[in-house]
Amino acid sequence: MFEQKYFTIEKKDGSRIGYVSHFNMLHPLGKLLEIGYVIAPNQRCKGYCTEAVRLILDYLFLSRSAERIQASTHVDNGASQRVLEKTGFKKEGTMRRALFNKGDWKDGVLYSILREEWKEPKMHTRTEKLNNTLHAVNNRATIERARNK
Ligand SMILES: CC(C)(COP(=O)(O)OP(=O)(O)OC[C@H]1O[C@@H](n2cnc3c(N)ncnc32)[C@H](O)[C@@H]1OP(=O)(O)O)[C@@H](O)C(=O)NCCC(=O)NCCS
Repeated sequence: MFEQKYFTIEKKDGSRIGYVSHFNMLHPLGKLLEIGYVIAPNQRCKGYCTEAVRLILDYLFLSRSAERIQASTHVDNGASQRVLEKTGFKKEGTMRRALFNKGDWKDGVLYSILREEWKEPKMHTRTEKLNNTLHAVNNRATIERARNK
């Protein structure tokens, strides 16, 4: 069954500046997860998305049995590709005409990170710029709670 969940990204002052989401791909074992994210235009290039992606990777690898997490970007989305490279994703290749945007099918770039490449939590013991909590739209899930599952 297709499942998608959104978490808002909050700064330490409580202001909401974007979201990060995860959804499962249609896969018989349900172990193929993909993430997506958006940061408000006036808050970009300050490292917030990089931190949020590290946080959701910790959350997903700690709370799910996924072997890999993937992300896809438009070929010309340099900022998104840079975020993925900074957070340990590896580029797999071009997905031809896989993403629909502004009325046309465009090429995408597929990235992934394997559980063995993630190795251990990067964020849950550290204090950075964001509230170290994922605020889900419908319910709250903290890294600590995920770790205890
Ligand atoms: C992609 C996005 C979420 C990044 O958020 P962010 O908070 O600005 O990301 P970060 O600040 O953590 O990192 C951005 C990195 O990209 C770099 N960057 C910015 N524009 C770039 C470009 N055009 N080409 C290459 N790198 C670029 C920044 O310099 C930074 O790298 P650095 O830390 O090495 O200097 C944001 O640009 C966004 O919301 N875009 C619109 C929605 C979107 O594209 N979502 C992704 C769909 S897959």
